[in-house]
Amino acid sequence: MRGLRLGILASGSGSNLQSIIDAVENGQLVSEIACVISNKEQAYALERARGHNLPALFINPKEGHYDETLLKTLKDYKVDLVVLAGYLKIIDKALIEAYRGRIINIHPSLLPKYGGKGYYGIHVHEAVINAGEKESGATVHHVDIGIDTGDTILQKKLEVYAEDTAGSLQKRILDQIEHKILVEAIALLEGRA
Ligand code: GAR
Repeated sequence: MRGLRLGILASGSGSNLQSIIDAVENGQLVSEIACVISNKEQAYALERARGHNLPALFINPKEGHYDETLLKTLKDYKVDLVVLAGYLKIIDKALIEAYRGRIINIHPSLLPKYGGKGYYGIHVHEAVINAGEKESGATVHHVDIGIDTGDTILQKKLEVYAEDTAGSLQKRILDQIEHKILVEAIALLEGRA
């Protein structure tokens, strides 16, 4: 078992980031969080990182050279596994090449269903509810050049209840699935490293 240096990319509230922080702190993971990076200055994920004395970096997409800065930052912090934890920006080709096989993403659906352009965050759950699906879930997968197309590492499902809203389904998937399988996937990669 080898500890990896994790670079976590997050755009939002960072509840998935929190599950990784907790797993590192309680010893469930032997990896360490090298840095947390966001494309959103106000992302609560950055607050969470600062609260745990982790390097919390905002990279401004409006300032140009965003992708180069992101890649350089990951290298500066000697990141060896990039974790997209609610990162709602498309990853640049150069980064995927540089970290081939070492970038993973969590997506809140049973991929390949409800993946690809436009399917992110609450929109995924709205689509699932509107389609009358009987089950949904989440997937952790390797990141390749497509959107939500890389090989699956872990996937878990749950039942969609008749009374579910997009919000209730999102919360249940986060609590019961995402926060567990993201940590489990990192643990799996630690074992293989
Ligand atoms: C999570 O549900 C994650 O799966 C989703 O954004 C949410 C972020 O929540 N990611 C995507 O939709 C990626 N396409 P968090 O900020 O509380 O971890």
